[in-house]
Amino acid sequence: MIGRKLLRYETVDSTNAVADQLARGGEPAGTVVLANSQTHGQGRRERRWASPSDGGLWFSVILRPETDPAATVQLTLLAAVAVCDGIEQVTDCRPGIKWPNDLLVSGKKICGILCEMEADQTVNHVIMGIGINVNASRQSFGPELQPVATSLAIELGRNVDGERLLQEVFYHLDLWYARWLTEGFAPLREAWKDRNVTINRQIRVDCEDATFCGQAIDIDEEGALVIQTEVGRAQRFRFGDVSIKCQADE
Ligand code: BTN
Repeated sequence: MIGRKLLRYETVDSTNAVADQLARGGEPAGTVVLANSQTHGQGRRERRWASPSDGGLWFSVILRPETDPAATVQLTLLAAVAVCDGIEQVTDCRPGIKWPNDLLVSGKKICGILCEMEADQTVNHVIMGIGINVNASRQSFGPELQPVATSLAIELGRNVDGERLLQEVFYHLDLWYARWLTEGFAPLREAWKDRNVTINRQIRVDCEDATFCGQAIDIDEEGALVIQTEVGRAQRFRFGDVSIKCQADE
């Protein structure tokens, strides 16, 4: 279902914005909007997502799950697992997932995911936006991003076939989406935990108006992150930005 209809663009402002417009106009679930570059790629928390020409796969999937709107947060975890599966099929890289959905290789970000939902009592549509740094060069990230971002080509020392990777990611998104609809979150939770680099680490969670520090102890049955805070209390987060603390921070 996912990618059966693929709309390719040379340049758009943001594939999430284009997909959202299409979804509002009745475009069916499974349609994918893919661009070679984005002028205003959107990241989480209103950040910009660098999306240079030929640097990566920048695409958005339209979904219309008939689920409780609260359950759709699990779709970001689903995308992270499916992209890991796709990357592992095509390369020797084994990315780790930092909750909820950053894919890291050598501690640097290789993929970001931005899921946006339109809902009232029920879900109207979800736009699952995925950016994978495939063949981006180190210079293309600029001095600000170089310490925190990487690409498959940088890590492997060779270019990767983006078309093949795209097809593998569609295949795994399709598999996990069908499984999530029929079996719920449990199998996905296990697959996510298997690839995670967050649990058992000392972390900092930045929320809209507060910051919490502690040890990540689990992902619960809804997909929320559970941490043991420094005052010894277990606390759950459905949203937030996680930084993994290094020795120097402590
Ligand atoms: C993040 O880690 O902050 C999320 C980044 C998401 C980037 C992708 S690229 C394709 C899609 N279109 C966008 O404008 N954003 C997402």
